[in-house]
Amino acid sequence: MKLERLGVVALACTLAACSETKSSAPRAEQRAGAAPTAASREPLEALPDVPPLDPKIVALGRRLFHERRLSADGSIACANCHDLQRGGVDGQVRSTGVGGKQGAVNAPTVYNAALNFVQFWDGRAATLEEQIGFPVTNPAEMATSFEHVLAFLKADPGYASAFAAAFPNGVTEANARRALADFERTLLTRDSPFDRFLAGDEHALAPEARAGYETFKSVGCVACHQGRNVGGNMFQRFGVLGDYFKDRGNVTEADYGRFNVTHNEADRFVFRVPSLRNVARTAPYFHDGSAATLAQAVQVMARYQLGRKLSDDQVRSIIAFLQSLSGELARAGEKG
Ligand code: HEC
Ligand code: HEC
Repeated sequence: MKLERLGVVALACTLAACSETKSSAPRAEQRAGAAPTAASREPLEALPDVPPLDPKIVALGRRLFHERRLSADGSIACANCHDLQRGGVDGQVRSTGVGGKQGAVNAPTVYNAALNFVQFWDGRAATLEEQIGFPVTNPAEMATSFEHVLAFLKADPGYASAFAAAFPNGVTEANARRALADFERTLLTRDSPFDRFLAGDEHALAPEARAGYETFKSVGCVACHQGRNVGGNMFQRFGVLGDYFKDRGNVTEADYGRFNVTHNEADRFVFRVPSLRNVARTAPYFHDGSAATLAQAVQVMARYQLGRKLSDDQVRSIIAFLQSLSGELARAGEKG
């Protein structure tokens, strides 16, 4: 919770990150071309391995993820808004659910979501299992209920037998949640150029991406976007050093972010810092989908989170670094 008390904290870590970057010995070593080793203290970490999971449960989860018949009118699957072939998003400013209804925020990716410390822009779900209840019942998404979902799954011979094979107690709400969540736990985008670089392959990053990584650290992006998911491990205000919402205008309830969960005034306009893995694939950006390009998103971040303007060169190199965070997507039809 302390991390939410941003402004000061964010700026303090930002400055700490800057001075550390400029003075510490490992940096000089890296400038000389050595890739970081496990021993050097990088603020970003490699993706972990997919945990051991039951392939039958994962395969069932994959099927459920693509199943349109779970929705009220049989038209919308999870995959409609989280298309695994396009980075786990739908590419829309706001998603369209059952009956053409529009949601209030931009759809984040399901790739690597398992690594986020909480789910949703406002962090209102603690786990993937808990998260699943929201799209199922949201009138602007699948607009249904677990009662209907379970009735469908029990009546469908294919699903009934797949559940029976995966779980001793067959079709239950907890099992459906577990299968979807375990499938999502497999959606880690391995083998990005940046992960190969972290593993010691110094040629994995082109010089521009390498320069961009240094800029990402030295200007202070890394104070918020850090760890193994390059984000996803803290809450921060959107607009630490400028009033983003006043400048954008038309403030909606969804813009209140974490405040909608805690009703604590200090949490107004506070959001979970998103992961930047695969971010080159997931335009448009921000909870409001307001930035159409990465260049725009990076400049907005520099201005409102860091209070600075980046040169075109700096923006270009940061984008090259962000592109190096794109890893392998799940293959269509891949088995459990
Ligand atoms: C109509 C579009 C739509 C459908 C269908 C949908 N989602 Fe989402 N999903 C969203 C949006 C929009 C958000 C962000 C909502 C928020 O943060 O308030 C989201 C958030 C998520 C998140 C959180 C990711 C993060 O980084 O916080 C996960 C995980 C997720 N959805 C999985 C699923 C699963 C599993 C299903 C199917 C049961 C599903 N979604 C169905 C649009 C959709
Ligand atoms: C003080 C914390 C903080 C700092 C510093 C920061 N960010 Fe962010 N970043 C956030 C938050 C919070 C969001 C989510 C904002 C929203 O949409 O509500 C975000 C969103 C983003 C997004 C959009 C991701 C998406 O999926 O929509 C990008 C890209 C991004 N940041 C890049 C950067 C870069 C590059 C820097 C450095 C120039 C930076 N950030 C500095 C907190 C920060």
